[in-house]
Amino acid sequence: MKKIPTSLGLAAAVLATLVVTASCKKGAVAPPDETQSSTKGQSVMDVTKAPFGSLPDGTAVEIYTLTNDKGLKARIMTYGATLVSLEVPDRNGNPGDITLGYDSLDGYLKVNPYFGSTVGRVCNRIGKARFTLPGVEYKLGANDGLNSLHGGIKGFDKVLWTAEPVKETGAAGVRFSYLSPDGEEGYPGNLRASVTYLLTNDNELKLSYEAETDSPTPVNLTNHSYYNLAGHGEILGHELKLYADKFTPTDATLIPTGEIRDVKGLPEDFMTMTPMGARIAQVPGGYDLNYALTSGGGALAPAAEVYEPTTGRVMEILTTEPGIQFYTGNFLDGTITGKGGKVYPKHGGFCLETQHFPDSPNHPNFPSTILEPGKKYSSLTVHRFSVR
Ligand code: GLA
Repeated sequence: MKKIPTSLGLAAAVLATLVVTASCKKGAVAPPDETQSSTKGQSVMDVTKAPFGSLPDGTAVEIYTLTNDKGLKARIMTYGATLVSLEVPDRNGNPGDITLGYDSLDGYLKVNPYFGSTVGRVCNRIGKARFTLPGVEYKLGANDGLNSLHGGIKGFDKVLWTAEPVKETGAAGVRFSYLSPDGEEGYPGNLRASVTYLLTNDNELKLSYEAETDSPTPVNLTNHSYYNLAGHGEILGHELKLYADKFTPTDATLIPTGEIRDVKGLPEDFMTMTPMGARIAQVPGGYDLNYALTSGGGALAPAAEVYEPTTGRVMEILTTEPGIQFYTGNFLDGTITGKGGKVYPKHGGFCLETQHFPDSPNHPNFPSTILEPGKKYSSLTVHRFSVR
């Protein structure tokens, strides 16, 4: 692996080499291999790029590795701008991968319940796969019974994104971009979308989304990582706090009824730290619900905190979004064998997807997801890691 000092310029470096490393410290003498890059007193914040297989049509897929000085490592591939792995130390300093997924591209191409995916143009469900904008009805790709789920048949999780490394003081990142053409999956307008993953030396993984359109369209982007802070097994012992006093109840097909209900006194109440499994038996099928964050969205505010008692790992989530989907991996059923040969059982991972509310285009009382030409969609979610 060849190391290239920052001062040489990243663009040239990307063109010149298959594997790029951008040292965050100017002029730092880079170690020969990323696995040996924990040189004392020297920043090891890195972005490296490597091949990650190819699509059936032969198009190459690449994977970027972000490393910080504290032992965190995030790997993200260009297919679906997917978070493939996230290594975080436990309370004894032992690193472990806390996300579900596959070791190679093949798995993602075969059966993928959105492991680590960037989801769009509209995440979550749109009822009856349709919505109207003044005067026009739009029909979308239906891929969940009659409903459209996570962008439709070929959502943003199944397209190839272009990537460029990003460097900021104390952070290493990659920006993924995708142009979704007018009419894709039934959505109006050419949408230029990007998601930037930034790993900081403060043990934060920041996901920032931007989008612009040339015609009004709904936009709702999120990341669909499945987490297991213990690495494997059921997540029911993980403790969760949600900064949400309300949620949006759904019908039998998981489409919001339109009601925004108080969590008080219900098994949906996570206003104080509670094991995910404590009241799951009272929720038919398990948790798969959008919560209305107390912050209301807009400014960056705490959304969730998860603590895993056996490893001590803590993940806090902050977001500018008004909602968060809490999903307890109810559709995992032991038929998927993922990374390292691990079988993923029911409740083998949880998702906390920051978002606008599901089916918003069909609920005028929900915060609007419509992006107008000339306006910028922007959304930020921060995952902060620590141990207790
Ligand atoms: C989301 C949905 C779930 C399920 C998963 C993917 O989180 O809310 O109902 O569809 O994605 O399996």
